[in-house]
Amino acid sequence: MVALPIARSVAELRAGVAAWRQAGASIALVPTMGALHEGHLALVRRGLELADRVVASVFVNPTQFAPQEDFDRYPRDEAGDAGKLASVGCGLLYAPTVGEMYPEGFCTAITLGGPAEGLCGAFRPQMFGGVALVVTKLLLQAQPDFAIFGEKDYQQLQVIRRLTRDLDIPVRVVGVPTVREADGLAMSSRNKYLTAEERADASELYRTLSETAAALAEGAPAGAILERAMAKLAAARFSKIDYLELRDAETLLPLQRVSRPARLLVAAWLGAVRLIDNLPVEPVLG
Ligand code: PAJ
Repeated sequence: MVALPIARSVAELRAGVAAWRQAGASIALVPTMGALHEGHLALVRRGLELADRVVASVFVNPTQFAPQEDFDRYPRDEAGDAGKLASVGCGLLYAPTVGEMYPEGFCTAITLGGPAEGLCGAFRPQMFGGVALVVTKLLLQAQPDFAIFGEKDYQQLQVIRRLTRDLDIPVRVVGVPTVREADGLAMSSRNKYLTAEERADASELYRTLSETAAALAEGAPAGAILERAMAKLAAARFSKIDYLELRDAETLLPLQRVSRPARLLVAAWLGAVRLIDNLPVEPVLG
């Protein structure tokens, strides 16, 4: 297999993309922080269904981590990532340095509202501002036709949809359904932090989420259903539940019951590991 070309600077990225454009190719961008798994590769595959070429970025973005979070110990494996990307047909890896993305004197920030409020936005206040900043930069650097994101991070996906609309960034944002392990656990680079015991307990998150989504779809008031689900998670050794909430699928405004397309979202801790997941909840007709 031919080695995957790697662009380290904005100039190298732009040169690679320009060559594709000159050949008449359409382009999809898949932003990631590396430590790639099947979930990320599903985004690349979707990109190749929509566009002629896919560029994937691997950049552990410091501006979306709070000081006490895992920026320094976030898993990094560039050679492994490059091999996986090449194996699914990605055409270019963009792996800039922190200095290239945030050169000395960098001082611009993006302020968000709407879908960034509440849920993870309440527990990780710096995160979506950092995500919006780096995604805006990546979109302006690569200028792709499509940008592909996972529904695994559903709030992030809605924040980016809103951001690109609000800032008139000419790109089609595409969401891809969550890729799961055999027991339902959503694939995540952070799953490798789980001990064997915690990994076994983790499957309860998807089971509870599925049951709760099915109950909510009937249209009953959400309060009591969500209370019961949280008690179930606590009994399954989840040490802390940041939130389990029913929200409007697009705006992410809180919903009291399912009367239009909704999303059930959860963030819960097993020991030192915070897991997030979500499912669609469509109203049952009749
Ligand atoms: P990261 O956590 O590496 O995720 C990169 C992309 O992969 C995101 O769009 C995420 O939703 C998607 N993804 C992760 N696990 C998935 C799964 N199991 N199924 C489907 N898609 C999955 O999200 C980020 O990086 C960063 O915040 C980023 C957008 C790159 C900005 O720094």
